[in-house]
Amino acid sequence: MSTDSTTTDRDLGADADLPEASVNPYYLEDIKHRVSVARVGGVLYAFDDLCTCGKEHQCPLSAGRLDGTTIMCQCHGSLFDVANGAVLRGPATTALATYPVRADDGRILVRIVP
Ligand code: FES
Repeated sequence: MSTDSTTTDRDLGADADLPEASVNPYYLEDIKHRVSVARVGGVLYAFDDLCTCGKEHQCPLSAGRLDGTTIMCQCHGSLFDVANGAVLRGPATTALATYPVRADDGRILVRIVP
């Protein structure tokens, strides 16, 4: 994994390891940041892995249920659109951060902009 800068593309792993209609979590150790990538209809979407609900603890959305571009948090049922981070149903009220992501030469590359 590339760890040079927060504004350059980061290599998350093999594109083939992310099947259609699924989501994988990745941990960027140098900036201690969890990001998830979903593939829906062949399109990749990158977003913060931790739910914004703010209750007892932050639950990982990558463990939730993906239905189209909607992901449901397993903890309290918040719904988010992974395409733009929007909250579709609470209790969460804060949108998820989303990031540019692409596949190139068999690798998933994400750009985390601070
Ligand atoms: S932690 Fe996700 S809905 Fe509460």
